[in-house]
Amino acid sequence: MKIVVLAGGRSTERNVSLSSSAKVANALRRKGYEVALVDLFLGLPAADEQQLAALFTSDEQAIDLNISDEIMTDDVINALRPDGTTQLFGPNVLKIAAMADIVWIGLHGGDGENGKVQAVLDLNNIAYTGSGPLASGLAMDKSLSKQVMLYNGIQTARFINLTKSTAADFELPFDFPVVVKPANGGSSVGMYIAHDDAELQKDLQASFEFDDDVVIEEYIKGREFSMAVVNGTALPAIEIIVNDGWYDFEHKFVTGNTTKFQTPPEIPDEVHDEMKRIAIQTFNALGLQNYGRIDFFWNTDGLYVIEANSLPGMTPLSLMPQEADAAGIAYDDLCDSIVQGQLKNLGMK
Ligand SMILES: Nc1ncnc2c1ncn2[C@@H]1O[C@H](COP(=O)(O)OP(=O)(O)O)[C@@H](O)[C@H]1O
Ligand SMILES: [Mg+2]
Repeated sequence: MKIVVLAGGRSTERNVSLSSSAKVANALRRKGYEVALVDLFLGLPAADEQQLAALFTSDEQAIDLNISDEIMTDDVINALRPDGTTQLFGPNVLKIAAMADIVWIGLHGGDGENGKVQAVLDLNNIAYTGSGPLASGLAMDKSLSKQVMLYNGIQTARFINLTKSTAADFELPFDFPVVVKPANGGSSVGMYIAHDDAELQKDLQASFEFDDDVVIEEYIKGREFSMAVVNGTALPAIEIIVNDGWYDFEHKFVTGNTTKFQTPPEIPDEVHDEMKRIAIQTFNALGLQNYGRIDFFWNTDGLYVIEANSLPGMTPLSLMPQEADAAGIAYDDLCDSIVQGQLKNLGMK
């Protein structure tokens, strides 16, 4: 069976995607699939049909895994394409995707996570892992997804949504501190904690650099967890224990910052069971498919859903693979079960 692992793209999380996808590609190869790793944005210039077909069985990586910790801006990424064009789908990407039985969406953040790439694949009759366009877009949008949670009685931090035009005049319906985040962000990029009005104004401005929609949330004090849902089953939760500050970009991706992970978590069974119920409920309410990850806080007021992720990180040290490991599911088997689960969902096996 042939799989294209679609990586990179053009989002602030481009580098996360590249390192994640290379590991997924190798895992799937070990599981016996024929895998071509393809950079969505850079594509495969000047490759003919035969060369594209050969990529599925070649040992050589078709993409440059030049990965840095820097936050990639559009300009930095656009400069990577030698011909100066900027459309998201690079040369021959759709062509090689159509040669695969299924595409593994190895993208993170921005276009890739917001459902637009999935829509293009749908329109080209190309099967892919994970959720469809609508659910992806919904999960990506922190304001809309919280509205769906509220409708379904799922507790989430109180919030208001601002656009650039409404940001000049608003009243905060809860106290400081507050969390300011771009509605369609990820990896904690563009996210700030404000303790007073002056900070809030500064943080709003900074956050609007990343998105025209910004969410202000009440700050939740509590223990933080994440729980993956794979093929309808919730994995053991993982606790994220940050010793200094909060779970920001540095803690997520830059080594040297102290974050501890605990899975299975040390919490009462009934809380863990409740978290599983809410994770599956949230997953289904948003219409997610195949796999995803739900982030939580837990305190004396109960469980809060922070957000849903339709394309969780997939390096072996990412949260979901660690949870799978705690459930006795090795990394390669996790990747395999996602592919097999989706083939079943799509009636392809
Ligand atoms: N309402 C909140 N109160 C306290 N901390 C928060 C809140 N929302 C987010 N955080 C912290 O910020 C991190 C990133 O926020 P999240 O909404 O998950 O965005 P991202 O898509 O960037 O992961 C969380 O993992 C959590 O540590
Ligand atoms: Mg998160």
